[in-house]
Amino acid sequence: LVLVVDFGAQYAQLIARRVREAQVYSEIVPHTMPAADMLAKNPTAIILSGGPSSVYEEGAPRLDASLVDGTVPVFGICYGFMALAQTLGGEVAHTGQREYGRTDVSVLEAGTLLDGLPETLVSWMSHGDEVTAAPEGFTVNARSPRATVAAFEHVERRIAGVQWHPEVLHSEHGQEILQHFLYDIAGCKPTWTSANIVDEQVERIRAEVGDARVISALSGGVDSAVSTALVQRAIGDQLTAVFVDHGLLRQGEAEQVEKDYVEATGVDLKVVDAAEQFLGFLDGVTDPEEKRKIIGREFIRVFEAAEREVLATPGAPVKFLVQGTLYPDVVESGGGEGAANIKSHHNVGGLPDDLEFSLIEPLRTLFKDEVREVGRQLGIPEAIVGRHPFPGPGLAIRIVGAVSAERLEILRAADAIVREETALAGLDGDIWQLPVVLLADVRSVGVQGDGRTYGHPIVLRPVSSEDAMTADWSRLPYDVLEKISTRITNEVKDVNRVVLDITSKPPGTIEWE
Ligand code: XMP
Repeated sequence: LVLVVDFGAQYAQLIARRVREAQVYSEIVPHTMPAADMLAKNPTAIILSGGPSSVYEEGAPRLDASLVDGTVPVFGICYGFMALAQTLGGEVAHTGQREYGRTDVSVLEAGTLLDGLPETLVSWMSHGDEVTAAPEGFTVNARSPRATVAAFEHVERRIAGVQWHPEVLHSEHGQEILQHFLYDIAGCKPTWTSANIVDEQVERIRAEVGDARVISALSGGVDSAVSTALVQRAIGDQLTAVFVDHGLLRQGEAEQVEKDYVEATGVDLKVVDAAEQFLGFLDGVTDPEEKRKIIGREFIRVFEAAEREVLATPGAPVKFLVQGTLYPDVVESGGGEGAANIKSHHNVGGLPDDLEFSLIEPLRTLFKDEVREVGRQLGIPEAIVGRHPFPGPGLAIRIVGAVSAERLEILRAADAIVREETALAGLDGDIWQLPVVLLADVRSVGVQGDGRTYGHPIVLRPVSSEDAMTADWSRLPYDVLEKISTRITNEVKDVNRVVLDITSKPPGTIEWE
C-alpha cells in the first residue's frame, strides 16, 4: 500500500492513479490524518501531494517529522517537495517568483530518480516558493529556470522529491520518475493486477456474505455490470440481479445485458420488460424535467415490485444489496476511510422501511479505468465494459419533444450508425461521450432521391471531458463526420439533415435536455 497524502491538491487522485498504473496499490488520505494513523496502515511508501498553500502561510499544513524519520520511503511532489525540504533542514525561500505551466527542467545529476532520462525534461510546474538548498546529504538532481533545487534524493534514507508535477500527462517521463521512486528507491513490487483484485474481492465477498442471499440492480452501465459480475463470481446463485428494461436504451443494449452478459457471467437475471409501461407514462410529455421525474419515479416502482418478488422466493434471507460505488465518489464525499460495508437504509430503491440491507460495494477502491480492466478480467463483453457514460433516463432525454415508439426507432437507428462509424475509426477512446439527439419537433426541407422531403435533423454532440463537469466539443475527423452524415440521411427514414454541436460546457450541457 502506498499512501498518497492529499495536501489539498486537485492532483491527489491523479497521483493515486499513476501509482496504480505502476501496479502498486495506492490510497488517498487527507493531510489532517494523524501521522500515527498513517503509519498504522503499514504503508510501503508515502507520497506527499502538491497543494495550494505556501509553506510560509500561517496554518499551512505541516509535515509530521515522524513520517520522514526513515521508517517509510517518502516522495514529495510540489508542495510535498517543499514541505520535505523544510522538515529535513533544507531551505525554502519565499521568492515571490512564480513558475506556472510548461517549464524546462535541466538534469544536473540523474542519480536514481532521473536515471536514464534526457538532460532536459519538459515539465509542468505550479509554484510560488522555491527550494534554495537541499537538506544535508541530499543529491540535487535537477534545476529549473526559477528553482535552483527542482529535485533531490537521498537513496539510503529512501527519500526523494520533485518540484514539478510528474503525474500530469504534460510532464515528460513523469511515470518513469514515479516508478524510479516506487521500484528503485522504495522497493515496491508491481504486483497489483486486475487478476489479483478479482481474487481478493471474491474472497472478501464470500467471507462477508456467508449463506445469505444478495440482490443487485443492473442498469446496462459499466459500474453495475462489473460489481454484479464480481459478486456473482464470489457467491454464484445466492445472487439475483434485476434488470428493468425501460425501453429507452440504445439499439442492442438490452439484448447485450439479457443475453451476452448472462452468458459471460452466468448470473441469475430477472428481466422486467417495462418498455410499454414507460412509453405510456411518457406519452405527450415534452418538458425535460417532467420526463426525468416520471422515469425516476416509475423506475423505482418497477424495481420495487421486482425486489418484492425476489424477497418472496423461498431460500435464505436476502441481506445484501450490491452497489457500484467508485473510488472518486468515496474520496469526494470525504470518506476515503473506514468500513467497506456500511449498514444503510436503502431508500433509493424504495425498499420496505423495516428492511435493512448491508451494502456490498466491491468497486469502492477503484477508478473507472480499473473497473473496466476488472470487467475484462471477468469476461464481460467489450460492448458493455467499454461503454461511454449513458444517462439513466436514456434516449427519452435525447428526443427533443414527446417520446414515441416511432421516434425512438429513428433515434436508435441514427445512434447505431454513429457508434458503428466512430468505433470503426477507432475514436471511442478519444471521446468522453457522443450523444445523438433527435429534434423531433423540428422539420426542415430537403431533397432526397427525386423529391422534396420535410424531415427531422439529427444532432451529433461529441464531447471530451475529464469528469463531465466541464467539457469541450471533440474535433472529430471530417471524413468520419461525412460518412456518418451520408449514412444517416440515406439509411434513417424521416431524417434529412445532420448537424454538429460545437458548444463547450459551460455554457451548453452535454445532453440537450
Ligand atoms: P449534462 O447534460 O448535465 O450531463 O452536462 C453530465 C453527465 O451526466 C449525464 N446525465 C445523466 N445521468 N441521469 C443520469 O444518470 C440523468 O438524468 C442525467 N442527465 C445527464 C450525462 O450523460 C453526462 O454524462
